[in-house]
Amino acid sequence: MFLSGGREEAVAEYYKLQATEYHHKYYGNDTESDECVKAEVELLQSTLKGLDVLEIACGTGFWTKIVAETAKSIVATDTNPSMIAEAKKRLSHLSNVSFAVADAYSLQNVSEGFTGAFAVLFWCHIPRERIREFLTILHRKLAPGAPVVFICQLEDSDAESHIRDEYGNTLAQRRICGRNFTLVKNIPGKEQLLEDLKDFSEDIRYRVHSGSYWSISWINGKPH
Ligand SMILES: C[S@@+](CC[C@H](N)C(=O)[O-])C[C@H]1O[C@@H](n2cnc3c(N)ncnc32)[C@H](O)[C@@H]1O
Repeated sequence: MFLSGGREEAVAEYYKLQATEYHHKYYGNDTESDECVKAEVELLQSTLKGLDVLEIACGTGFWTKIVAETAKSIVATDTNPSMIAEAKKRLSHLSNVSFAVADAYSLQNVSEGFTGAFAVLFWCHIPRERIREFLTILHRKLAPGAPVVFICQLEDSDAESHIRDEYGNTLAQRRICGRNFTLVKNIPGKEQLLEDLKDFSEDIRYRVHSGSYWSISWINGKPH
């Protein structure tokens, strides 16, 4: 049986079930100095330096901690209270970081006027049919001229078993805690990303980093 309900709910539930082991499973003992994420660290820290930053889908806060080294402040958000609880355990000593439980597709109760924003490993989970709505809601929270950075994976280990749905989403099957999930796992190319963002910015930059990640960064440049 696969989880019924929206694709977004499946993603949220899948991560909720792994909150306590997520950090150790994916980051071990914090590898931000590793060569493999050096370019991503540099991009995030230099782009968001001195800014009041909104983070979407912070998880256990691996990237929050990195961005906090140069940002003025960060409001780190995630839809799962269990993820926020894990992030708080690790980062409660950072005076420029605060946390909020917030669904990325509504950002309810999140304030406005952020001068920067970012998310890591979240774009892949946004259903194609909700990209525009997601970006519109995000941009309402940003000041004009705010830089935004999204970073995600270039490949999935089991890509050969992925299937496509009618919206053009790539779907991956995952099993955790005895439950099966169908997750949106999109890996958009440069042209697709430029198309998705064309109504939000005239200043967009796509990069491929060291074989594992892509990033897209842009300046909030158009009113909506
Ligand atoms: C792959 S993890 C990435 C976490 C973190 N950014 C990182 O790179 O380690 C995806 C995160 O998205 C969160 N998430 C899933 N659906 C969400 C939604 N609708 N709104 C906000 N966060 C969501 C999950 O709870 C999880 O923490």
